[in-house]
Amino acid sequence: MLNQLFDLARPALLAFDPERAHTMSIEALERGLHPRDTSPDEPSLAQTIAGLAFPNPIGIAAGFDKDARVPDAVLGMGCGFAEIGTVTPLAQEGNAKPRVFRLIRDRAVINRLGFNNQGHAAALGRLKARKAAGRVGIVGVNIGANKDTADRTGDYVAGLETFYDVADYFTVNISSPNTPGLRDLQAPAALDELLARVMAARAARVQAGARMRPIVVKIAPDVAEADVPAIAERLLAHEVDLIAVSNTTLARDGLNDVAGGKEAGGLSGRPLFHRSTAMLARVYQATGGKVPLIGIGGVDSGATALAKIEAGASLVQLYTGLIYEGPGLIPRIKRHLADHVRVNGLKSISEVTGLRAQEWAQRPL
Ligand code: FNR
Repeated sequence: MLNQLFDLARPALLAFDPERAHTMSIEALERGLHPRDTSPDEPSLAQTIAGLAFPNPIGIAAGFDKDARVPDAVLGMGCGFAEIGTVTPLAQEGNAKPRVFRLIRDRAVINRLGFNNQGHAAALGRLKARKAAGRVGIVGVNIGANKDTADRTGDYVAGLETFYDVADYFTVNISSPNTPGLRDLQAPAALDELLARVMAARAARVQAGARMRPIVVKIAPDVAEADVPAIAERLLAHEVDLIAVSNTTLARDGLNDVAGGKEAGGLSGRPLFHRSTAMLARVYQATGGKVPLIGIGGVDSGATALAKIEAGASLVQLYTGLIYEGPGLIPRIKRHLADHVRVNGLKSISEVTGLRAQEWAQRPL
């Protein structure tokens, strides 16, 4: 019923300024006005990855719930996990508005938000409250650096320290195109310094008796092909638990809305699907399938989610697809994946991971 209401509301939401529509959606979710997917997940979609028991592999990507206002609503919509953030130590405004643009003909979005968020303290308060209320379900915290910080790496360490007791996993976001210089952290030497400090901070926690919290590193789809092996090698050397591929792209290939495509920022949605999936498969091959991957970019159907898994993903996240398809997309994808497992005589979605990685890795970026 609520799904149908959301189907009716979507054209209205699409008529609003994109950032306003997003705020309205978050406020509706905060008030409990959201469709609930209460049907239990098919056992074939459950997987334990990096010590976490995911009931299904679908999540909403970072940026949707930057300030941890609605993680339980996201889980209630049928997601197997939620990710909040990107959060930075201090609150920041982000870039001047307007800074989010829909390219409707392309089923895409360009954003140059620039990590607008309320800072660590606000998100921490909300995540502590949900813990205290006994809420369950996997919630990851996506951490970043303030634009004007003197110690960029220190901001990530602060994120890990601050949220250690309330985050089920951390995503180290070094791939947003909207904070100048942030993507430079993907260069092997910078990556080494960052990961050494983040991993040491986690090791200290574990040494002190805390649980091991998995670390995800989220990379850009615009990494040069020749740099993929070196980045993969550094991520393996530091024993990161998962790799997320990918964030938004600076590329503007093949857009119908050429004028809209001139906006500065990161492009997401359908035009990102091919590039991010081809990059995912390259990372799968470069890591020899040893590190589980989160496939992100242009997922807006069961078929595109399945393609991510075939290209090498163990988990899938989406954001722009939700804007165009509405929350009914989540159960639709899960049905498609469960049907695929059954029709092919398999037992688990995990058997599908990487089956077409070779084919995808050969496609041009
Ligand atoms: C994002 N994304 C993002 N990623 C991240 O790591 N931290 C963030 O704060 C944000 N913020 C953000 C805002 C908006 C408006 C969009 C559209 C996207 C990127 C997002 O998590 C995802 O990686 C890309 O959008 C690609 O997936 P989709 O949207 O094509 O499914």
